[in-house]
Amino acid sequence: MSELTGTAAWSDDNGVLPGGCRLIPLMVRGDERGLLMPFEGERNVPFAIARVYTVFGTLPGVRRGFHAHRRLQQAAVVVAGACTMLLDDGREQRRIRLDRPEVLLTLPPMVWHEMEDFTPDCVLMVLADAPYSEADYIRDHGEFLRLAGEKA
Ligand code: TYD
Repeated sequence: MSELTGTAAWSDDNGVLPGGCRLIPLMVRGDERGLLMPFEGERNVPFAIARVYTVFGTLPGVRRGFHAHRRLQQAAVVVAGACTMLLDDGREQRRIRLDRPEVLLTLPPMVWHEMEDFTPDCVLMVLADAPYSEADYIRDHGEFLRLAGEKA
């Protein structure tokens, strides 16, 4: 277990993800008993956490998401298993495979995201800076592109 202790090595080309998304390697606390990893708002998570939800039991072939948020900040981590996140800021698209429980993907507002290729054991945990609000969702990709164009 000791080789997993400490900040995970991460060599992806972080910083060039669409829309200001970032992959943040988190500190894993490990000892002879196993591993522990804290998530703390405004510390290793870059906002105050108001809501946590999990996506799990995703059936084979299912794709979900297909929206952006107007103001909501989120961060996602696979607590178990793996899935792929498509990130789209209206100019470029990028697919990121989330398969490491110690790497947090930040999702700023105005990033269209889709999730796919969930392993059967995948538990995706999402941290958010506000309570659930349907009014914050942009669920039409055409509207998203228009709003993202206005912002640019
Ligand atoms: P939905 O946004 O459609 O999920 P996804 O974007 O992953 O495809 O959410 C599914 C349902 O859950 C929908 O009825 C809204 C509800 N929901 C909440 O009640 N609270 C939440 O925090 C979230 C994320 C969704």
